[in-house]
Amino acid sequence: MSSGIEGKVVAITGASSGIGAETAAYLAERGARLVLGARRENRLNEVVEQITAKEGSAVGVVVDVTRRADLKLLTDTAVDRFGRLDVLVSNAGMMAVSPFDELRQDDWDAMVATHVTGLLNGIGAALPVFRRQRSGHFVNVASTAAHVVKSPQGVYAATKTAVKVLTEGLRQESGPDLRVTLVSPGFTDTEGVGRGGSPEAAAALARQRDEIAMPPSAVASAIGYAIAQPAGIDIGEIVIRSTAQA
Ligand SMILES: NC(=O)c1ccc[n+]([C@@H]2O[C@H](COP(=O)([O-])OP(=O)(O)OC[C@H]3O[C@@H](n4cnc5c(N)ncnc54)[C@H](OP(=O)(O)O)[C@@H]3O)[C@@H](O)[C@H]2O)c1
Repeated sequence: MSSGIEGKVVAITGASSGIGAETAAYLAERGARLVLGARRENRLNEVVEQITAKEGSAVGVVVDVTRRADLKLLTDTAVDRFGRLDVLVSNAGMMAVSPFDELRQDDWDAMVATHVTGLLNGIGAALPVFRRQRSGHFVNVASTAAHVVKSPQGVYAATKTAVKVLTEGLRQESGPDLRVTLVSPGFTDTEGVGRGGSPEAAAALARQRDEIAMPPSAVASAIGYAIAQPAGIDIGEIVIRSTAQA
């Protein structure tokens, strides 16, 4: 029986670690063909090798989502290699949180560029492909921070709220052929939590992660659930967090 995932061509940004890498492994085990994007080539290659060692199908493309041409390369690779693109998972992100008074403006800019411009670059690259095929699925990874703002996560939460708003706007225009899903994870046990931002804020996030985070496999299976739905059925939004998270 078909899994609803088998054979689908899925591109994932931010696939070199954490939720993206775990989602790639989950989908590969169920027969998806993957095009994986991130900036760290060595880490990306490790993910691709782990998948192909288990007879899975995956190709890596060095992608910086802040660059429009890189997203075009990602979607072109899917079409050139596999003949189509069924799903784009826009997952690349960073959690460089800090209080406003620290004026970490490079971090602010990077989060806007990665989460907002990066998502738009993905939409710009995949939408023409999806329209041509008359099918396609956008899966956009936001955060519970798009639902509840907690200091000092103001800029991170704003950019993830933008992901939520863009996803809903896209869904309303998507028409009968496309699917659009927002996935908002809570604390997830990945290396990205506590990296960047102010040292105090990063340490506090890492402590919380160690106390209450869910494994990235939980988010991977939520993404898989949305992808596995029959044609014509769109899971609009999934909020997923550990029961320990308030
Ligand atoms: N972990 C959590 O608690 C949590 C909670 C809610 C939402 N999220 C969201 O989940 C997503 C994945 O995060 P994670 O927790 O799995 O952390 P992670 O392990 O640090 O993964 C982040 C991924 O994004 C990639 N990335 C960052 N900037 C990029 C760019 N400009 N271009 C291309 N790729 C880029 C990184 O790869 P390279 O560095 O190799 O480019 C990496 O593969 C993020 O959007 C994050 O905001 C995480």
